[in-house]
Amino acid sequence: MTPLAVVNCGQLVTLAGPARGRVREELRKLSIIEHGAMLIRNGAIERVGPHATLTSQLPADCEVLDAGNRVVLPGFVDAHTHPVFAGTRVDEFEQRTAGATYEEIGAAGGGIRSTVRKTRAASEDELFQVAERRAAWFLQNGTTTVEAKSGYGLSLEDELKMLRVIRRLNSAGPLHYVSTFLGAHEVPDEYRGRASEYVDLVIDEMLPCVRREQLAEYCDVFCEPSAFDVSSSRKILQAAKALGFGIRMHADQLTRSGASQLAAELGAATADHLEQVDEPGIRALAQARGGAGVQPVLLPASVYCLGRHKFPPARQMIEAGLAIVLATDFNPGSSPTPSIPFVLSLASTQMRMTPAEAITATTINAAYSLGRGGRIGSLEPGKRADFVVHDCTDYREISYFVGVESAHTVYIDGQCVYRKHCDG
Ligand code: NIG
Ligand code: FE
Repeated sequence: MTPLAVVNCGQLVTLAGPARGRVREELRKLSIIEHGAMLIRNGAIERVGPHATLTSQLPADCEVLDAGNRVVLPGFVDAHTHPVFAGTRVDEFEQRTAGATYEEIGAAGGGIRSTVRKTRAASEDELFQVAERRAAWFLQNGTTTVEAKSGYGLSLEDELKMLRVIRRLNSAGPLHYVSTFLGAHEVPDEYRGRASEYVDLVIDEMLPCVRREQLAEYCDVFCEPSAFDVSSSRKILQAAKALGFGIRMHADQLTRSGASQLAAELGAATADHLEQVDEPGIRALAQARGGAGVQPVLLPASVYCLGRHKFPPARQMIEAGLAIVLATDFNPGSSPTPSIPFVLSLASTQMRMTPAEAITATTINAAYSLGRGGRIGSLEPGKRADFVVHDCTDYREISYFVGVESAHTVYIDGQCVYRKHCDG
């Protein structure tokens, strides 16, 4: 393959640093090369450095991408999404404008269960087609890897169908997917009042089958009294762990139930949401995994889209030394947005995170939360050439401007996968 030189980068934001999730003041160190350049070969980064040095030693047969003095970042890694579903929930969106809450709509049979009915009725091909359209949305927003959850099937057959769609999306490319089994997202209609039987189904049939077919790396549970309480969540996640799944959890989102403590007890990779977490919960997360900590995945777009005001206490988590992650939670109910730039804006305006902290949380820290910190999330030699030219000259503009298309050109595996039309 012809080598590619990316030259004239106003800021080459490399995120080079220690080979682990970044904590405390490390979160603000982006390792920026002002007027930098980068050499790509066979889909991987070979060298990064100052423009003048790098361009004086380029291979003769090299293709050149002139970044036009713009900002170049690693592709965003969105570590929490639900991108495979049929239909929308625009009706519920409108009901909420009249005062109905997310919880009331869910308890009345809507919410997750309404998407489950539509997703069950859809074929694998139909789900693949709608999800491909959403893959384009992620790319256009500068995201190059997404974690994708099942959880709108809630029967063996329909969960497998969703996970096969995720596998197909990943093989079709160019967006990379990391797959998570979320069979315990909600108790489906036919098991209402028999939740413990559904938990048995997840443990005895779904988990072993998903494992056998190698359809997911992680297992997630919506740990919430209205869905799966701490004791059912523990049973499911212990079974998943015994089969070799990594653990992620929807924890302390709507109520504080001890979910953070459970994530710590199980040594989960991540505890996600955490709007309701308190100081003891944060301490438990920080002390878990032999002091390495459970990574919090904060999802402020779901707080915003539900019209709420209680954002997760990011500053307290940073002070506690947690390797914080931010993600979209893209889903049809609580967070219908695929935009990491929007999440960056919320992190700074609602959670007092600096633009630099938020970028670390959506790149290298997100990559580590998915066990891929050695391959993606920063622009360092040996890593996959997943990078984005953003249409600005200072990285802080990505958080500062709201509702503009930031990504100018997107590369995955060293190949151009998106270019903004009407170049300006
Ligand atoms: O992360 N809380 C559970 N799951 C999703 C919402 C899914 C839905 O409403 O369809 C979340 O917010
Ligand atoms: Fe979620």
